[in-house]
Amino acid sequence: MKIAMVGSGYVGLVSGACFADFGHDVVCIDKDQAKIDRLHAGVMPIYEPGLDALVAGNVKAGRLSFTTDLAEGIRGASAIFIAVGTPSRRGDGHADLSFVYAVAREVGENLSNDAVVVTKSTVPVGTGDEVERVLRDSGTPHLVSVVSNPEFLREGAAIGDFKRPDRIVIGAEDDFGREVMREVYRPLFLNESPLLFTSRRSSELIKYAANAFLATKITFMNEMADLCEKVGGNVQDVARGIGLDGRIGSKFLHAGPGYGGSCFPKDTLALLKTAEDYESPVRIVEAVVKVNDLRKRAMGRKVIEALGGPDEARGKRVAMLGLTFKPNTDDMRDSPAIAIAQTLNDAKVSVAAYDPEGMEQARPLMSEVEMMGDPYSAIDGADAVVIVTEWDAFRALDLNRVKSLLKAPVLVDLRNIYQPEAMREAGFAYTSVGRA
Ligand SMILES: NC(=O)c1ccc[n+]([C@@H]2O[C@H](COP(=O)([O-])OP(=O)(O)OC[C@H]3O[C@@H](n4cnc5c(N)ncnc54)[C@H](O)[C@@H]3O)[C@@H](O)[C@H]2O)c1
Repeated sequence: MKIAMVGSGYVGLVSGACFADFGHDVVCIDKDQAKIDRLHAGVMPIYEPGLDALVAGNVKAGRLSFTTDLAEGIRGASAIFIAVGTPSRRGDGHADLSFVYAVAREVGENLSNDAVVVTKSTVPVGTGDEVERVLRDSGTPHLVSVVSNPEFLREGAAIGDFKRPDRIVIGAEDDFGREVMREVYRPLFLNESPLLFTSRRSSELIKYAANAFLATKITFMNEMADLCEKVGGNVQDVARGIGLDGRIGSKFLHAGPGYGGSCFPKDTLALLKTAEDYESPVRIVEAVVKVNDLRKRAMGRKVIEALGGPDEARGKRVAMLGLTFKPNTDDMRDSPAIAIAQTLNDAKVSVAAYDPEGMEQARPLMSEVEMMGDPYSAIDGADAVVIVTEWDAFRALDLNRVKSLLKAPVLVDLRNIYQPEAMREAGFAYTSVGRA
């Protein structure tokens, strides 16, 4: 089957390469000429473990190609995926759907055969209806079915998630759409990944409900962590103690500096907007958004406290280890590191940072932060270290070296990757999250 993937970012490129690996004939389309040029040269435009080999193998096998020419790319495709960005609209938090509708228009104008148009981008309820209208208005004589197929992959583990998903959600309104989607995902169905068919609107909502629920789990544990600090508990024990209950589950119970990334912040906001539009409040999600926003700057203040409070901290320097919103990605969108560095800068604390993959993307977002070539050069001469992202490279730092490079042995571990007792024995003034 021929598949066209419009938008070749984190989702489009990974999905396209995985579909090709399943044996489909895939064209990845993007309007960003530089991105397509890099892909033609075999250079990945994003960092995602294993993606370079997957892309190279499928290009070599002739199943995966790249173009900026949408008309050419969609020719003969039975399924045309829309995987462009849906960022927060400035001002009101609604998902900006202009990229999605622009693609729908261009597809309608250039369609040369019957096809299923699949929205993989995360889009609010009712977007599929509008995409259908846009396609109809384009006057295409071809049969088109508009299907919702939200993506649940996680950056950093995207290929595994795509190839072995917990479920595949397909919101289709007609048999044509369902049949083509069954064919698209047949290789996965054989792997026994459950295929869940729903209405288009339910499918659109499933994606937001899933992300809002996960954001709630994280935020709930972050508040439990604060409470642990006050009452003398250990949030990791609390997480384990509740997570072993099958009804709760052990995932997404790690306390930390607050959620960030390209999905949770914008998707929770978009869900609030939908709820407002339909006058059906989602108060739990409202609270989650508020609590999480406040938390990021609170983590900056935690570092300032570790430096001795605002007066003592003035003029000091902090080594920040990790900038991306989570490990194994170069994605900096809404990373807590940005708000933490900002809070430190506001308090006249300077920041020297190191991240294994995110520094190129971080630079324009964190102009006040000095980017260093490795963790130890960031630590050299600093007054404290703060671990913001739990990259493996930070899990086994040479603590003697860290201590000898620091002006004072102060370490703030916002991901709880070290053990308080061991750190104290090693001579550090050690602060973590939710562990008294
Ligand atoms: N990143 C994730 O982990 C993730 C996970 C699940 C769902 N999603 C959703 O998937 C969607 C895409 O996210 P992403 O992170 O891949 O975004 P991205 O910004 O990495 O990629 C989007 C790509 O679309 C291209 N594009 C925009 N308009 C275009 C057009 N008219 N024609 C062709 N290409 C166009 C851009 O140039 C860009 O390369 C979003 O709705 C997001 O919410 C993302």
